[in-house]
Amino acid sequence: MAHPGPLGRGEVHLWRISLADHDGRLTKFAGALVEEERLRAERFRFDRDRNLYVLSRGALRLLLSAYTGQRADELEFRYGSQGKPSLASDGLQFNLSHSGGLCTAVFARGIRVGVDIEEKARDASFLDLAERFFAPSERRALARMPEERIRDAFYAVWTRKEAYIKALGEGVTHGLDNFSVTVEPGAERPRVHSDRDPLAAETWSMISFEPQAGFAGAMAMEGQGHRITTLEFVPDGV
Ligand SMILES: CC(C)(COP(=O)(O)OP(=O)(O)OC[C@H]1O[C@@H](n2cnc3c(N)ncnc32)[C@H](O)[C@@H]1OP(=O)(O)O)[C@@H](O)C(=O)NCCC(=O)NCCS
Repeated sequence: MAHPGPLGRGEVHLWRISLADHDGRLTKFAGALVEEERLRAERFRFDRDRNLYVLSRGALRLLLSAYTGQRADELEFRYGSQGKPSLASDGLQFNLSHSGGLCTAVFARGIRVGVDIEEKARDASFLDLAERFFAPSERRALARMPEERIRDAFYAVWTRKEAYIKALGEGVTHGLDNFSVTVEPGAERPRVHSDRDPLAAETWSMISFEPQAGFAGAMAMEGQGHRITTLEFVPDGV
């Protein structure tokens, strides 16, 4: 894999990783896993789920190896109380998301980061889902949207909320209706407003992106004005 280059302060690298098993990727990525991960992979009932796990975990290890200079199969993970992985030996910040055969991973130094991608359903009861999960201000803004924009706005909100709680390292335990994000899907600088962190709108920034047609993506970063580079993961020799 071409080296991603140094990750300076204020820089954020956002990687797109295809999880299609082409050109022997599966074998190569499986070689980066440790015993515990191989055992976890074996426990998946369906080949498809097993392969997606091996490909995304293997790609994560190969990228972490490129950033830290450590061997992929010697990297040791620690897990936060809600399961967010971090490295035992390096303060590198990273996060990963996968959906429907696609994966994205984000890396930074000294900046907490979270990423989420979702394959968009063609048709669903988006307003009903919003009633269940979103904050009141988000529900109202979504209900005011023209019919043809509701789906995109729904996924913009969903991925922004997920990216933020993933940057914090929390899962649904954070609660999803006690903070809100910008609902406008095309917003240049979406923001987060949180009861728990009144300064969040100034101390966090976000972007939305389309990792592939039919997918929505968002990334949340601590601080403002970071230099974001998007990269495509193409491992060597495959
Ligand atoms: C992990 C979590 C935060 C996101 O799950 P998800 O969207 O299904 O999965 P993603 O593919 O985006 O992310 C999974 C990856 O995030 C990382 N991760 C796991 N726990 C995490 C946490 N607490 N915080 C941040 N990252 C985490 C791991 O690398 C994981 O990869 P793995 O499954 O291969 O080990 C999940 O615990 C959660 O709480 N989801 C909320 C679901 C929901 O109701 N959302 C409504 C949004 S409005």
